[in-house]
Amino acid sequence: MFSYPYGPTLVTGGAGFIGSHITDKLIQEGIEVTALDNLSTGKISNLAACNGNKLFHFIKKDLNNHDGIRESLKDIKVVFHMAADPEVRTGFDNPESSYNENLRNTFYLLQEIRKSNVEKIVFASSSAVYGDVKTLPTPEDYGPLLPISAYGASKLACEGYVSSYCNNYGIDGYIIRPANVIGARSRHGVIWDFINKLKKNSKKLEVLGDGKQTKSYIHISDGVNGFFQCLKSKNKVDVFNLGSEDSIKVLSIAHTVCKNMSLNNTQIVTTGGINGGRGWIGDIKTAHLDISKLKGLGWLPKLSSAESVEITTKEILNDHLL
Ligand SMILES: NC(=O)c1ccc[n+]([C@@H]2O[C@H](COP(=O)([O-])OP(=O)(O)OC[C@H]3O[C@@H](n4cnc5c(N)ncnc54)[C@H](O)[C@@H]3O)[C@@H](O)[C@H]2O)c1
Repeated sequence: MFSYPYGPTLVTGGAGFIGSHITDKLIQEGIEVTALDNLSTGKISNLAACNGNKLFHFIKKDLNNHDGIRESLKDIKVVFHMAADPEVRTGFDNPESSYNENLRNTFYLLQEIRKSNVEKIVFASSSAVYGDVKTLPTPEDYGPLLPISAYGASKLACEGYVSSYCNNYGIDGYIIRPANVIGARSRHGVIWDFINKLKKNSKKLEVLGDGKQTKSYIHISDGVNGFFQCLKSKNKVDVFNLGSEDSIKVLSIAHTVCKNMSLNNTQIVTTGGINGGRGWIGDIKTAHLDISKLKGLGWLPKLSSAESVEITTKEILNDHLL
């Protein structure tokens, strides 16, 4: 049973993919929620189910606006910090973005949280903090953590700041390291890319890398439950992997997307990739998280990676029709 006795909640990036699903769930459960978003990639339409509900407030502000953050934290007890530049791929050409959007803005947010009455922060980090690993599935205490992308580096630095602010200023901190989270409203990542490529040219689908990249995909329905389950931890600061029990190859995802678009004759070609078949510089070739720690708190993902990919493809195709 869902239990959330913590009080009014702020969701940064609340109009984004994961943030809007977290907001939906809290509003459904009768919790007062403020969603803060600059709408750079987020969409107001993602919050359609909340609009008009008297428990729901939306603030269109950027996290680099200190007054805006202060205003949005009034009476807030819990912060779900989702706002970020979530793109790993663009980090090679534009590493400044993950520094500014992820690290600097998280620092600004923590500075205002420190002066507020906030009691808990749930931070969306990433499995990208692990970099290339020697242990699969990878547990939370794997080390040393050596990210291979600017995005992963920014998330790891944020984890350090969240941990230190929680320890110094009496806040409880929950750091979540999600694998690839997919589902309705997601507007980035491999399924979104494949669908958009195929809408432009259904005869040929180019797959970045050698197609053998193998990663975990978790559906947003399982993911959102995991974000809430971490709050059951008794530790002052805790870190949790969030993924499915298994993983799937990129080429299988390409076939699933083509099948769901009724494309039987599409030629699927791989670019071959760089540095051992990676899709781009900073791409982790093989990722599979050990999720036993969060399962120990009573959470269990219902869907496999393949099922999540199948469902998400249909959901994104439906989103397109809206
Ligand atoms: N989706 C995934 O697979 C995945 C995996 C691991 C970690 N994460 C992390 O989860 C979080 C949410 O990701 P998502 O997939 O929902 O991405 P998203 O782009 O859909 O959501 C991010 C939201 O933050 C908003 N935003 C960005 N910069 C902002 C700023 N400066 N001020 C205010 N709002 C701002 C955007 O408009 C958007 O609505 C991110 O922190 C991301 O790094 C996502």
